[in-house]
Amino acid sequence: MYSRVIRPILFRLPPEAAHQLTLRLIGLAGRILPLRSLLTSRFSPTTNQKISLFGINFPNQVGLAAGYDKDAQAILGLSALGFGHIEIGTITPRPQTGNPKPRVFRLPEDQGVINRMGFPGKGAAACAKRLAKHPSLNAVLGINIGKNKETPLEQAAQDYTYLIEKLSIFADYFAINISSPNTVGLRQLQHRHYLDHLIKECAFARDGQSERLQKPIPLLVKLSPDLDFNELNQTLETILSHKIEGIIATNTTISRHRLISSNAGETGGLSGDPLSQISTRVIAHIHKQTGGKIPIIGVGGVASAQSAREKLDAGASLVQIYTGLIYQGPLLARKIIEGLSPVLSGKNIERREI
Ligand code: FNR
Repeated sequence: MYSRVIRPILFRLPPEAAHQLTLRLIGLAGRILPLRSLLTSRFSPTTNQKISLFGINFPNQVGLAAGYDKDAQAILGLSALGFGHIEIGTITPRPQTGNPKPRVFRLPEDQGVINRMGFPGKGAAACAKRLAKHPSLNAVLGINIGKNKETPLEQAAQDYTYLIEKLSIFADYFAINISSPNTVGLRQLQHRHYLDHLIKECAFARDGQSERLQKPIPLLVKLSPDLDFNELNQTLETILSHKIEGIIATNTTISRHRLISSNAGETGGLSGDPLSQISTRVIAHIHKQTGGKIPIIGVGGVASAQSAREKLDAGASLVQIYTGLIYQGPLLARKIIEGLSPVLSGKNIERREI
């Protein structure tokens, strides 16, 4: 139904308009109880393999990656699609408009997307207001945070700590995004010169909030797939020297290899199938380099139980999806979760509990 009917209609619209429409519909369905129940019965997996990571209980291993629901517009509806966790954001302290449109491009022949959104969003205050009205979720809520465009790198830590202070009450975990290619200079925050100070400040802010709210608030760092392994090793060393609970690998790539779609030359971050092996290699490297000491959420081109399994085999404990949803539709989370289930897939799959 999705690939025969809905996707062709959505693909007639510009990608960002199609996305907004989908998000509105999922948001609407999530707010109306009978519709939400309908979504749950159609899209929620019939089996869930719980996993406990950084002190949080995840209902299953499949989450929604950041960028899909930047301003927490549709989290109830999205949780009815079966996701075990939903990562909202990237949220910035102040509202901003992002880059000029068009800024999202489909690469259908490659099953990929290029985006150069640049963190458009309503800002922290609007997000807090929306989350405050929310009933509790069945899914874990991650909040992905980033700096405003005009904040200099030297002051970036202030943006991140402000967001931690403002949003901790709603967060099950924070993802510190220092890897989007569409905010000039942001990825430099991955280098020790900035990262050491940034993480120290974030961990300090988190410790204060954790004490105040009497709950664990894990901090995860989201990394780029474009660091060479020497740079990545230094970044990992810095991360391991602080109280960081996990790594999200990876964000989109600026590399372009063997693409055939007409939009391949667009500027921005590439996601989807062309990113899949690149991010899996990064996950395997992180896992090896850290001796498995730090849990990894694997993201990049997951579009089936098999591609999710590749990430888990490389060392990830959870996976996230975004571009796969655009091409495969809303049943994807359920298909992956059921495909990973040892009961339903008939395989004896090792369970990782950390
Ligand atoms: C993203 N992604 C992203 N990541 C992030 O940390 N903050 C963000 O705001 C966004 N925004 C965003 C917008 C769009 C249109 C896309 C396609 C992606 C990156 C996303 O979370 C993920 O890391 C990559 O897309 C790789 O996963 P997939 O899409 O290959 O499953």
